[in-house]
Amino acid sequence: MFSLSKRSDVEPFHAMDVLAEATRRRQAGHAVISMAVGQPSHPTPQAALVAARTALDHGRIGYTDALGTLALKQALAGHYRTRHGLEIDPARIAITTGSSAGFNLAFLTLFDPGDSVAIARPGYPAYRNILAALGLDVVEVPVTAETHFTLTPESLEAAQVASGKRLKGVLLASPANPTGTVTGRAALKTLADYCADRSIAFISDEIYHGLTFVGEETSALELTDEAIVINSFSKYYCMTGWRIGWMVLPERLVRPVERVAQSLYISAPELSQIAATAALEAGVELDTYRESYRRNRDFLTQRLPEIGFSIASPMDGAFYAYVDVTRFTNDSMAFARKMLADINVAATPGLDFDPIEGHRAMRLSYAGSNAEIEEAVERMAAWLK
Ligand SMILES: Cc1ncc(COP(=O)(O)O)c(C=O)c1O
Repeated sequence: MFSLSKRSDVEPFHAMDVLAEATRRRQAGHAVISMAVGQPSHPTPQAALVAARTALDHGRIGYTDALGTLALKQALAGHYRTRHGLEIDPARIAITTGSSAGFNLAFLTLFDPGDSVAIARPGYPAYRNILAALGLDVVEVPVTAETHFTLTPESLEAAQVASGKRLKGVLLASPANPTGTVTGRAALKTLADYCADRSIAFISDEIYHGLTFVGEETSALELTDEAIVINSFSKYYCMTGWRIGWMVLPERLVRPVERVAQSLYISAPELSQIAATAALEAGVELDTYRESYRRNRDFLTQRLPEIGFSIASPMDGAFYAYVDVTRFTNDSMAFARKMLADINVAATPGLDFDPIEGHRAMRLSYAGSNAEIEEAVERMAAWLK
């Protein structure tokens, strides 16, 4: 019998497992509310749907250039002009199959097996799993209230001393999942400079841009042309299922990324690229959705501590509450399973985000409608009594 690769032995993405269980329960007729997965309950923007329908009527959906259509890259350059006052050459932009493919491409073009890459703990689990599957050393750097839940030069130095290896890359999300941390301009600049001075690749995950409620939203592109910026239409643009993301690359990385992307993906789906191009014009509709997340955020900030879930990190951006559940359990995985079975509310156990301390935490996504989130909290309040 053949054996499996060691690289495939990654942790499951527990949020996806919870989602699958929630879907099974929903199909069996239960009124499930999912706060487990970070996906908006709002529909795809109208303009994107219209553009996609028109393209379907036209009939032919094909491959595009490996790094995406010129129309989408130009529209994204326009986005950087209006939102950030930046002139970005569309030739530096690569369209990817969700930001998830962007991580693969970045890691493959920047690192070799055995290289060390730092990420925050707690942090988005797929970073750890993709890095591990590619044979890279994952350096999980604990982030706490002391450093406003973000990476700092000091914490990166300490992590290198502890691991005995120099870093080849640093990956930071702002706003961050699951902590909601927004890394301010000055802190981001300090990190980018620290990396530049040491020839460390700095990867900035900006997927939650557009969803900052407290603090300033800075793109790493405002600070340096050397950052590898990754973004996506999944969150602010409410287009998770269309699977479109993008990268903005230092010029010398464009051709290597293109070479790897040609063979790995051929191209991102053309229909989705057409829809995404139109979505960039959907500001007003999307800002209404952002306001509904803000209402959820304000509601949860008040209500979660009242029901016994203390909020473990700032909720400044993205759409997550990361809560300490030690008042009720030391096993957040079993707790999440029981909560789903008893009251049909799905949440993600902290172990996804933090293999060491996560048994004491849970992440609640508040990307659902106001009514759903309020109903979920009232079910939890009654259950926890
Ligand atoms: C921080 C972060 N980065 C990247 C992703 C992946 O998103 P996608 O592949 O849909 O662009 C997610 C999804 O939850 C995320 O939270």
